Amino acid sequence: MIDDEDPPNSPAAERNREPIREVLVERLPDRGHMLEIASGLGQHAVHLAAGLPGWSWQPSDPGGEALAALAARVARAGLTGLKRPVRLDVEQSDWAVGQPDAILCVNMSHVAPWSATEALFGGAGRCLAPDGWLFLYSPFHVNGAPTSDSNARFDADLRARDSRWGIRDLAHVTAEAAASGLRHVETIAMPANNHMVVYRQPE
Ligand SMILES: C[S@@+](CC[C@H](N)C(=O)[O-])C[C@H]1O[C@@H](n2cnc3c(N)ncnc32)[C@H](O)[C@@H]1O
Repeated sequence: MIDDEDPPNSPAAERNREPIREVLVERLPDRGHMLEIASGLGQHAVHLAAGLPGWSWQPSDPGGEALAALAARVARAGLTGLKRPVRLDVEQSDWAVGQPDAILCVNMSHVAPWSATEALFGGAGRCLAPDGWLFLYSPFHVNGAPTSDSNARFDADLRARDSRWGIRDLAHVTAEAAASGLRHVETIAMPANNHMVVYRQPE
């Protein structure tokens, strides 16, 4: 059971939240509305909402006890732009999230079935504002192969835990994004063999 008052911190999120903030700040305008998909326990939501003060920040997660811990962390942060989390499973078609200017999704695509990545792009294509941004952060395979021994081990571990999980291939992911009308604009190498892939909605 997750302690809402003192939820565990993901060490990965502690490490990657600042490099992710730098990517966002360097590319996004000063103001806008961000939808975060798969916020988990909310470490990114709190850090990034504080680091992009001109943005309103909507965290989300599919539910379960993690959503209560996320809501508690968001409430404790007391940040003006950081909204109460909403329940959002990308595979449900009714994303009641308005029209965000940007979407961020960190470390979901490899810990969910491929259908979740398909649904992420489908939903982003439907709801993003014209010229809006989708930032997708994960480990990825490149040209069908892991980019490091540690990613190969991680991929094998994920697939052993759930045969529908696993690190996705960048070209496969970007082809799926294009099928939802999203244009690939940039792939950024991030620390610890991760990538941030950036897509834009048509103007
Ligand atoms: C490894 S955690 C990452 C959490 C957080 N983004 C982070 O980096 O610390 C994976 C997250 O994906 C979420 N997730 C899994 N399937 C999902 C789905 N169908 N729709 C939305 N989120 C999903 C889980 O609830 C979980 O919060």
